[in-house]
Amino acid sequence: MVFKEPKGMLDILPEQISDWEFLNQQIEKFMKTYHYQKIQTPIVELTKVFKRENDSSDMVNKEMYTFSLGSDSLTLRPEGTAGVMRSIVQHKLYASGENPLKLYYVGQMFRHDRPQKGRYRQFHQFGVENVGVINPMVDAEVISLAYYFVKSLKISQVKVSINTLGDNESRQAYRNALSAYFKNHLDCLCPDCKRRYQQNPLRILDCKIDKENPIVVNAPELKDYLTQEAQIYFEAVLAALKALDIPYEIDKRLVRGLDYYCETVFEIISTHDASGAQSTVLGGGRYSGLTTYFEGPELPGVGFAAGMERLLLLMELEGVLPKKESSLDVYVLTLTKNTIVPLQVATRLRNSGYCVEVNAVERSFKSQFKSVDRLNAKNVVIIGDDEIEKGVVNVKNIATQMQKTVTLDELVDTIKMLEKGENI
Ligand code: HAM
Repeated sequence: MVFKEPKGMLDILPEQISDWEFLNQQIEKFMKTYHYQKIQTPIVELTKVFKRENDSSDMVNKEMYTFSLGSDSLTLRPEGTAGVMRSIVQHKLYASGENPLKLYYVGQMFRHDRPQKGRYRQFHQFGVENVGVINPMVDAEVISLAYYFVKSLKISQVKVSINTLGDNESRQAYRNALSAYFKNHLDCLCPDCKRRYQQNPLRILDCKIDKENPIVVNAPELKDYLTQEAQIYFEAVLAALKALDIPYEIDKRLVRGLDYYCETVFEIISTHDASGAQSTVLGGGRYSGLTTYFEGPELPGVGFAAGMERLLLLMELEGVLPKKESSLDVYVLTLTKNTIVPLQVATRLRNSGYCVEVNAVERSFKSQFKSVDRLNAKNVVIIGDDEIEKGVVNVKNIATQMQKTVTLDELVDTIKMLEKGENI
């Protein structure tokens, strides 16, 4: 029997780890410049954290990994925003002084979707939540964070798509208009859209199946139902983006797949030819009503999450993944049956901070030197019976090709000198 990872869930293999570490380091570095704090919430939450009232999103209705244990219904988190809001209310983080509260997180999410390249059932998100303030300047700051973060990874072929869902009044008027419109066309919609029609006709607009359906294409447009306040708010966001040199395109069909959004919504999309169907690397927007659902005060928020697998795929496509450099400082090559002395030498070097590999199998000089090449070691320390008898080792720097026989006490200094090409 062949055992594999569960469908849509990927092992991250040793050769890929350095890319992930690089991405994680970039996130940490970048978030310091925007003065955000990190938060970690459990991967599992009570199901009701995600399944709220009459939620109409596919994510909640079709894609959650939910299970019961004892009397609890639990769900593997499909996204990060809800858990973070639950935590903010539970720990009264909003009362800690500064407003807005600025938090970010990194971690696995789970959605039982149809897997394909760039779409997985277990994937990683880097997410950002800015909570407590409604102000177009804050929306623009969060979008600038998203845009310049993607740019900091040297991903260049991207565009920012933006839209507004308006305030409650605008959305209610638009929902009514959509209900009236789709009422006469229900037979032309897919089965899921019939459910969406009952729960939230706005969801029909981002149906993957009905995307090209003329009934959907010709549906009323949200911009015709915006209140004047919502229009002014959106224009202020766009003006701030211009001032921050962030190119954007207004996509009047962008409604985003989750129910909590209001006002500004945005996505960053790859324009690279080979980015395929899963070209949205990041999505977010303004939201409301989450903290009151968790029985806290109403706190407006704006945020986004980026799919980390997608960021790495794009970095690979654009050829901007960092070069994999050898970190092996020393290979200890052994020409003796004595196994203790090589281990002592390796330990001594490791205690001085060097990354050291020591040969562990009895084999020829040639075969060990193949390992030196394969591992791209910077130095080789050669230990044979002669050296052990005299209390010395032979050390060679691969780049400068300089070598020397020295005592153990001289070894660290000698490695440094040989590296500089200095003879001692
Ligand atoms: P979302 O659009 O559902 O938003 O997901 C954000 C990003 O996660 C997507 O743009 C995509 O890059 C990545 N993603 C989503 N599903 C998958 C998948 N199955 N496989 C690989 N990557 C995926 C949210 O999750 C919101 N919580 C974002 C947010 C934060 N809004 C406000 N604050």
